[in-house]
Amino acid sequence: MSVLALRNLVVSYGAIRALHGISLEVPAGRIVTLIGANGAGKTTALRTISGILKPASGSISFQGENIAGLAAHKIVARGIAHAPEGRMVFSNLTVLENLRMGAYLRRDRAGIADDIARVRSIFPRLAEREKQPAGTLSGGEQQMLAIGRALMSRPRCLLLDEPSLGIAPILIRTIFDKIVEINRELGLSILLVEQNANLALAISHFGYVIESGRILLADTPDALRENPSVRAAYLGG
Ligand SMILES: Nc1ncnc2c1ncn2[C@@H]1O[C@H](COP(=O)(O)OP(=O)(O)OP(=O)(O)O)[C@@H](O)[C@H]1O
Ligand SMILES: [Mg+2]
Repeated sequence: MSVLALRNLVVSYGAIRALHGISLEVPAGRIVTLIGANGAGKTTALRTISGILKPASGSISFQGENIAGLAAHKIVARGIAHAPEGRMVFSNLTVLENLRMGAYLRRDRAGIADDIARVRSIFPRLAEREKQPAGTLSGGEQQMLAIGRALMSRPRCLLLDEPSLGIAPILIRTIFDKIVEINRELGLSILLVEQNANLALAISHFGYVIESGRILLADTPDALRENPSVRAAYLGG
């Protein structure tokens, strides 16, 4: 059964239509990737699932209930967490304060402490830098913090917007290994948006290709990697 399903989702910015009725599914416990070029509509899709943008029409079902149009904090409370494009950590707050911000809706002190311990064990580099302002971290470390902060709402489903963007290659490998670990060990369902199709397909169970606000292809990672148009457009030929 799918934990998250978008059906015919239409989203506009004023007169500009960014998503022309997209449908996709994330089965429970799976990593699904949405790959596409600049401006294809990837971030718009994630921001709409998170409740930051309101869809013009279509539905978003999460654990069997329609969440389209709910307020963002209600969607977090239902169990969807979003590590946004560009990381958006609070630069002047420490690493630990940023993590606590991810738990702002929670009142269970013991549970929050457990989850901070869990983030420390997943990302030892963050644990070492806990008292530093987040703005002093490298791009890759800030991406780890964005993912760690998302985990602090104890989600069932994680939305990751271009975790490889602007990050040193050596840390990209680490971050993708951590995404796999979070999926396997915590059982989280993950919707991963990426321009880096090679990396994303390597860790995903299923993939969609989006172009100009429309889903063009939906297939297994192997089939997408062998598809000539995917190879030409996204995998360097
Ligand atoms: N705030 C906005 N106002 C108007 N148009 C927007 C806005 N944000 C995005 N768009 C437009 O919506 C379309 C989809 O943008 P979106 O940011 O979702 O793409 P993306 O796939 O995430 O691209 P990228 O890989 O560059 O992050 C683009 O044509 C973009 O110009
Ligand atoms: Mg984007």
